[in-house]
Formats: sequence, C-alpha cells, structure tokens
Amino acid sequence: MKKPIPDEMLQSVLEAGRRAPSCANSQAWNFVVIKSSDMLEKAHTAVSRGNAWGKRAPVMILVAAKEDGGCPAHKLPYFMMDIGLATQNMLLQAVHLGLMGHPTAGWNEEEFLCQASMKAGLPADAWLLQATKIYRFQAIIFEEETPKGEIKLKKI
Ligand SMILES: Cc1cc2nc3c(=O)[nH]c(=O)nc-3n(C[C@H](O)[C@H](O)[C@H](O)COP(=O)(O)O)c2cc1C
Repeated sequence: MKKPIPDEMLQSVLEAGRRAPSCANSQAWNFVVIKSSDMLEKAHTAVSRGNAWGKRAPVMILVAAKEDGGCPAHKLPYFMMDIGLATQNMLLQAVHLGLMGHPTAGWNEEEFLCQASMKAGLPADAWLLQATKIYRFQAIIFEEETPKGEIKLKKI
C-alpha cells in the first residue's frame, strides 16, 4: 500500500527545485507532478522494466526542459545543467524531509505515446502516422474555494 505524501512536503520539494540556480536565472524547467491514482497508472505503463520498483512511488515528478527557454551563452545547452541542479535540489529536499527520491531515465517513450494516443480516442499506433500532430500545453489552474465562492489559484 502506497503511503501518500502530504501536500506540504510535496510543495517543499517543488519549491527546492524552483529555487535552484539556473543560467541567467532562465529557470528553463517545468515540473509535472503525477500523483492521482489514474495518472500514476498511466505513467506506470511508460516505466521501463528495470525500473518496475518505481511503480510503488506515490508521487512522480517529471522534469521537463524548456529547450528554447534556456540561457544561450556560448551556444551551450545550459538548460541541461539547470534541470540537473533543480532535480538534485528536489532529491536533497526529499531526503531532508525523510522521503525517498530517485532519479530515473528509464522511460519507454513508445509506450507513453501509445497510451497518449489511446487517451485521445485514437488507435494506439496513431502517433506513428505522419498526419498526426502532437500538441502540448501548459495550464494555470484556478478553483472556487467553496461552490460559487472566491476563486483562487490552485497550487498542486
Ligand atoms: C539522469 C539520471 C538517470 C538515472 N536513471 C536511472 C534509472 O533509470 N534507474 C535507476 O534505477 N537509477 C537511475 N539513476 C540513478 C543512478 O543509477 C544512481 O544515482 C547511481 O547508480 C548512484 O547511486 P546512488 O544515487 O544510490 O548513490 C539515474 C540517475 C541520473 C542522474
């Protein structure tokens, strides 16, 4: 049985990542938090066989680099260093809070794209078709504190 991680702890881990140093303070990262059971279930399909242990994690944080949002100094991909620093910050904060954190590169992209296609109501191999366009988006979430009450930024 997975032990849930309190939101304050998760916030504290994300905050440690957010405050990581980055080249020209470009903060070229996005953290995608996966914690609901249905999203975790989907993410698990993309976990490589060698990382099957990771399916026991109650939270996964996907660290995505904004490739064109980083610092272009010396034409070097400094965003790679930035996201590494942010990841390490989060790992250190997790351990500091008594949690266990582990970075993994073992993801099966094909499985992920198959699942994403099916979620869009398409055949699993739709992502292979040349005509298929894959879009991504970012969102800021607001919610009513109570029904018809004050609308506040929802932090996840
Ligand atoms: C970018 C990156 C990707 C990694 N991918 C995996 C992985 O897919 N599976 C895994 O078990 N460990 C992964 N690791 C963890 C390393 O294997 C681990 O940090 C290293 O073996 C040292 O062990 P320690 O962190 O317990 O000291 C990854 C580490 C980094 C930095």
